[in-house]
Amino acid sequence: MAFPKIRMRRLRSSESMRRLVRETTVAVDDLVYPLFIREGEGIKKPIKSLTGCFHFSPDTIAAEAREVAALGIPAVLLFGLPAKKDPKGLQAWSETGVVQLAVKEIKNAVPNLLVVTDVCLCEYTDHGHCGVIKNGKLDNDATCELLAKMALSHAQAGADIVAPSDMMDGRVRYIREALEQNNFHDVAIMSYAAKFASAFYGPFRDAAESAPSPDFAGTALADRKTYQMDPADARQALAEIALDVEEGADIVMVKPALPYLDIIYRASHRFDCPIAAYSVSGEYMMVNCAADAGLLDRHAAMLETLTAIKRAGADIIITYFAKNAAKKMQNPK
Ligand code: PBG
Repeated sequence: MAFPKIRMRRLRSSESMRRLVRETTVAVDDLVYPLFIREGEGIKKPIKSLTGCFHFSPDTIAAEAREVAALGIPAVLLFGLPAKKDPKGLQAWSETGVVQLAVKEIKNAVPNLLVVTDVCLCEYTDHGHCGVIKNGKLDNDATCELLAKMALSHAQAGADIVAPSDMMDGRVRYIREALEQNNFHDVAIMSYAAKFASAFYGPFRDAAESAPSPDFAGTALADRKTYQMDPADARQALAEIALDVEEGADIVMVKPALPYLDIIYRASHRFDCPIAAYSVSGEYMMVNCAADAGLLDRHAAMLETLTAIKRAGADIIITYFAKNAAKKMQNPK
C-alpha cells in the first residue's frame, strides 16, 4: 500500500525542496551562441527572421564577443555571409573571408572564448546547396575536398573547433586528415553527425541567405533531402554518429533538438563522447512568436526547453537563447 506512506508531492512542497531534489540543471557552461558575420564595415543590423539576433561585420564582432564572454558563455559558433557567391563557394576558404577575419578579431579580443566555425558551402554557393553540383547531382567527394580546405583555413585563422554541417559522407575524415597533415592536432571537430532535413531551419536560411535556389523547383535538388537525414530514421542517425566518431569527430551533434530528443537520448547512452544538440532557428522562433502573441511566457518556455534538451542527454546546447539564458541564470528574478 503506497499511499499515504508515499506522497510524491512532499518533494514538491517548496522551491527549496524542488531545488534540492532537482535532477537536471542547465548551466551557462553548456551553451554555445551562434553569430552571423557578413561582409562590410560597421554593421550591427537586427536579423528580421531571428528576433534579438544581429548581422555583424568582422570589425564589429569583438564587442559582441566580449559581451558573450562576460556572460560566462564558453563558445560562439560563426556563420559567414560573403558578398560574392559562385558555383563552388570560393569565398569559403579565402584567407580574407568574413569568417576567417572574424575569428582573428575574436581571438585577439577575447582569447579564452572558444570559436567554433560552421563548415559548409551553402552560404557561399550561388545555387545554395551545401556542396558542388555535377551533372545535376551533389558531387560528394569533390565537396569533401573543398570542406577540408575550408576547415583548414578556419584553423589557420585561429578557430578552436570546426563544425561541418553539410552531411556529405566522409567529410570528417577529409577534415581530420587535412588538420593532422598541417599540424593542427588540437583543433577539435564537432560534426553535425545526425542532421535531419528539417522544416525548422526556415528562419536561419533567411538569416544566412542560404536556401537552395528556386531554379531547382521540381527537381531532386529542390531541397536538401539527398544529403540531410529523413526525419523518420532513428537507426540511421546512430549509424551516422558512429561513422563520424570513427572518422575523427571529437563532439557529435544532433540537429534539430526538440523534435529529436529521442535521438539525443539514444546517442548519449551509446557514445562515449560529448553530445551537442542544436536548438535551431525554428525552435527559437516558435517560442518567440508565441510569446510575442501573448500566448506563453518567453523565459519560462526558454528554460523549460533547454532543460528538456539537457535531460535527454545533451552536454552542449547551441541556442540563439544563449545570452538570454545566461542572463537569467545570473539573475533568476
Ligand atoms: C548550413 C546550416 C544550416 C543550419 C546550420 N548550418 C541550414 C541548413 O542546413 O539548411 C540551420 C541552423 C538553424 O536553423 O538554426 N548547412
